[in-house]
Amino acid sequence: MSGDPAPALELQDIQSGVLRPRPSPYAATYILFLIDEARAGRELMGRLSRVVTAASEPRSAAGDTWVSVALTFQGLKALGTPQASLAGFAWEFQQGMAARATTLKDVGESSPEHWEWPLGTADVHVVIAVVAPTAESLEAALARARTAYEAMSGVTAIWRQDCHALPDETEPFGFRDGINHPAVEGSGIAGTDPHETPLKAGDFVLGYVDEMGGFAPTPQPDLLGRNGTYMVFRKLHQRVADFRRYLGAQASDPAEQELLAAKMMGRWRSGAPLALCPMHDDPEVGGDRARNNDFRYADDAAGYATPLGSHVRRMNPRDTPIAGDARLHRMIRRGAAYGPLLPKGVTEDDGADRGLIFTFIGAHLKRQFEFVQSEWVNDGVFVALAGARDPMTGSADGGGTFSIPRRPIPRRLKGLPQFVVTRGGEYCFMPGLRALRWLAELGG
Ligand code: HEM
Repeated sequence: MSGDPAPALELQDIQSGVLRPRPSPYAATYILFLIDEARAGRELMGRLSRVVTAASEPRSAAGDTWVSVALTFQGLKALGTPQASLAGFAWEFQQGMAARATTLKDVGESSPEHWEWPLGTADVHVVIAVVAPTAESLEAALARARTAYEAMSGVTAIWRQDCHALPDETEPFGFRDGINHPAVEGSGIAGTDPHETPLKAGDFVLGYVDEMGGFAPTPQPDLLGRNGTYMVFRKLHQRVADFRRYLGAQASDPAEQELLAAKMMGRWRSGAPLALCPMHDDPEVGGDRARNNDFRYADDAAGYATPLGSHVRRMNPRDTPIAGDARLHRMIRRGAAYGPLLPKGVTEDDGADRGLIFTFIGAHLKRQFEFVQSEWVNDGVFVALAGARDPMTGSADGGGTFSIPRRPIPRRLKGLPQFVVTRGGEYCFMPGLRALRWLAELGG
């Protein structure tokens, strides 16, 4: 903890989905709404303000279950939010994710013209996210949420995605997910990395001092912006068969394939970090929350254990010397898997849609999500790997490369295809609970 006084976060006014790590295991559902009539949209905000869980409730009546609500810029407009308030939102949010495609490297197959309808269109106004530890508690929370919107004219549910935990808490490529969660000052929620000083609340919630010592621009009136934040919502399709085939083409020995996979991710499939287990996977370390984040990279400057270009090292360089300050680009992130598991050993694509619904929380869209997506995922200049993209999630075009430091000479993987394709997404604003009520009372 820093020596500053605790920032007294107004937890009773902040949505629980802002600060919490997702439960493990989990089940989740995301529903998108179109507001046809402003009056109905405002009524929906009022009803949802009674369903959304506040961050002050460490456990809701249904355990680790929560309902969150977020609005796109188009959604705020559809409610009739005054122009003076709209103008105060972050510029990237006002533009919307589809308009930011070039910056985000959502190009080629990931470009918005190929996105799944209605993602990226002006029809997406409200996102309701329900996250729970079990299918039963999810159903119970969904039933509560349904009372807010069912049988209501003027508001239409237009898209839904159900997500579910895969065996061993893995994401569809087969790596354990949901391991690292940063600590936020004043949240009362412990972080998972014992070496990371808690991050300033203002990097995650509007109205508080941030890592730069200032405040993220906050829309007015204060009631609207305070205790709100931005949520990045993305549907990422994963080409699991291609990933397996690529590994198979690089090495015939299954153990070597696993080593290559771990080098690309920075962790073994069990979650065990290469930093602690450089030679072999160790499922005990991978599953041990006291150990699987207890490492630094300082003694591995060249990346012999964890390549500088691997997914987790570039997404969180920890103490790696980089161009810039890694703390300014931290995010709260949650991945929730959708689609059927590709059975073990299958290397032919079965045509099924599978991947992750990713949500990122941060008060600064530009310096957190957008920066990481454009500079750290899709360029390597910050760790002196100019042009080398993230081998797992970068927007490769069949010509990607990945360097694995090794003695006497590094191993260089070539011809990396694109394993992750963006199916769509939205920039959203997650209002505080008072702001939800303020929105409900607009115009009346
Ligand atoms: C389908 C695409 C993706 C997959 C399969 C994936 C998978 C993973 C896995 C398995 C981990 C390790 C688990 C953990 O640390 O909790 C991880 C960590 C992480 N990922 Fe991804 N990821 C994807 C996309 C992204 C994107 C697009 C970003 C950012 C723009 C991102 C940011 C992060 C961050 C910040 C971490 C935590 C690293 C740490 O703190 O050590 N991921 N990811």
